[in-house]
Amino acid sequence: MDRRSFIGSCTVGAAGLSAAASFPSFAANAKPREYAKALLVNERGDALKASELKAQTNYVFHYPFEATPVFLLDLGKAVAPTTLSTQDRSSYSWPGGVGRNRSVVAFSAICAHQLVYPTRDVSFISFRRTRAQRGVQDGLIHCCAEHSQYDPARGAEVLSGPAKQPLCAVLLTHDPKADTLTAYATLGGELFDEFFRKYEMKLSLDVGPKAKNAVNGQSIVRELDKFCKNPIQC
Ligand code: FES
Repeated sequence: MDRRSFIGSCTVGAAGLSAAASFPSFAANAKPREYAKALLVNERGDALKASELKAQTNYVFHYPFEATPVFLLDLGKAVAPTTLSTQDRSSYSWPGGVGRNRSVVAFSAICAHQLVYPTRDVSFISFRRTRAQRGVQDGLIHCCAEHSQYDPARGAEVLSGPAKQPLCAVLLTHDPKADTLTAYATLGGELFDEFFRKYEMKLSLDVGPKAKNAVNGQSIVRELDKFCKNPIQC
């Protein structure tokens, strides 16, 4: 896949970032896929402060492409690293939460089953603070299409439903001094090629010719309830 460049360790992925930023550590088998860095900003264009995120609230930004949505969550508790596996059985070590409390995580909002994703008009997938219908626990990401459920506190591993792999993680660095967040890579099973194939016509209407453009420089973070007119709570 020529849109992305593979890197073998966090030291390579982190090389171009601020020396002040705090970096997650990876096991030797991890293979983050590095993209252009994007500072997370609010709707006014100001750098988002990680400590201003409301805990257990759905936020959305787009990364690594203009049309690929990501959930940003402050889970309200420290989130430890964990080891996961993609559908093709490639293992990877997800580095856990970032931020002052190591509670901030980000995952592609494209369901790993059949690619349901949040749009401006409707969202069938979101984080649920309390147990969703059919939920197996509180604090999961639930897709209403066929009820795949993911645990954001464990790298979005699959808890139940037909999804065969975790949501793809989006890696963030946190600048402890400025309290800002920067997206710089993905980790896990990407589904972007399938996503662009499946929704080519819709994305061209909704997003336009920039849909496949890499996000570069910054990405706007919005609460899901403001980004989407109709977040479905199944
Ligand atoms: S698309 Fe999400 S469970 Fe089927």
